[in-house]
Amino acid sequence: MSNRLMVKLNKKPCYDILIENDLSALNNEITNLYPEKRKLCIISESNVFPLWGEKVINTLKETGFEVLHYEFKAGEENKTLATVNKIYEFLIKEHFERRDVLVALGGGVCGDITGYAAATYLRGIDFIQIPTTLLSFVDSSVGGKTGVDYKGYKNMVGAFKMPRLVYIDTEFLNTISDRMYYSGFAEVMKAALIKDGEFYEWLISNMYEICEKDKDVVSEMIFRSVDIKRQVVEKDPFEKDERRLLNFGHTIGHAIEKYKKYTLSHGECVALGCVAASYISLKKGFITNDEHYEIRDMFVPFNLPITVSDIEPKKILKILKSDKKAKNGIVSFVLLKKPGKAFVCDEVSDKEILEGINAVFFDINAND
Ligand SMILES: NC(=O)c1ccc[n+]([C@@H]2O[C@H](COP(=O)([O-])OP(=O)(O)OC[C@H]3O[C@@H](n4cnc5c(N)ncnc54)[C@H](O)[C@@H]3O)[C@@H](O)[C@H]2O)c1
Ligand SMILES: [Zn+2]
Repeated sequence: MSNRLMVKLNKKPCYDILIENDLSALNNEITNLYPEKRKLCIISESNVFPLWGEKVINTLKETGFEVLHYEFKAGEENKTLATVNKIYEFLIKEHFERRDVLVALGGGVCGDITGYAAATYLRGIDFIQIPTTLLSFVDSSVGGKTGVDYKGYKNMVGAFKMPRLVYIDTEFLNTISDRMYYSGFAEVMKAALIKDGEFYEWLISNMYEICEKDKDVVSEMIFRSVDIKRQVVEKDPFEKDERRLLNFGHTIGHAIEKYKKYTLSHGECVALGCVAASYISLKKGFITNDEHYEIRDMFVPFNLPITVSDIEPKKILKILKSDKKAKNGIVSFVLLKKPGKAFVCDEVSDKEILEGINAVFFDINAND
């Protein structure tokens, strides 16, 4: 199986995505992109850099390029303009020029921050993504959406900025927690459900190997998920239409995430959101009972929740409607026609949304 995907923008080659089991192919990619010497600055964070920084620096130094690094404090709460400001200061101090290149080494938080810094520093410099979580392999590193949170609003400030290369080294999975791994898997399921019924079946038949992190199976899973994301972003690079399908499971998911004050992981909320959206698809007659329950049960072996307690469904609906995606009070909802085929539906009533939320609500007081 090939391990390279090429993302096109307006039908022209834009950047490559490599899926590797180590860093050995990285320098070749970089020196092919940049035959003349450049400065590279690795932007990483306080959890990833101590684990992997030295290895990546030593690898990159073999290119003969000057390699700098800047580390910020890990965590979504630091995905802010304040962190970006400090990166600008560092780059100015180090005389970073327009021809130089940023390298994001970290999960989605690091990729989003670095991409935004690259989009804006000196009106735009190149950047390379070296993602380190399953979520960032299959989702955030591909597609060029970058940005930061602003005053508590998620991803409120940002820019589209395509990376020059995405280098996925599956070794990074060795140091992420099981919870993070499974959280990333929710996005894999999402990708399969919206676009590729055959891949969805494949996930079901390879469930055991995926849980055991079998190297070959995981590489294939990543390749196929990234390929789905590639197809979607190529069709709609600036999120006008097709790319909205990637929000499957995220409308209710985000609202639960906010309601639970981010105590559940993003993937856990996406799993709940997928189950709720699948239920709405069932209620509206698009999918069958069997299809819905198979989707729901598919999250269980991956330690992902299919129910949640201690929520107030009506408050979740309110949060959902105040989300930036609710235009004129109408929520665009991504539903399923069948596993592997999603569509945007503008006709989902509040009552139907509440039914979806209730489908994942495990009310511990219900039998009192
Ligand atoms: N740009 C996009 O298109 C896009 C898409 C989806 C999500 N996102 C963004 O991505 C972010 C979530 O990404 P994430 O789940 O990767 O979060 P993250 O970057 O916060 O990483 C999760 C946790 O794992 C740690 N970590 C990362 N890699 C590790 C490794 N190899 N070993 C040990 N620990 C490691 C991090 O320090 C952090 O504590 C959110 O901010 C979200 O908005 C962006
Ligand atoms: Zn997501």
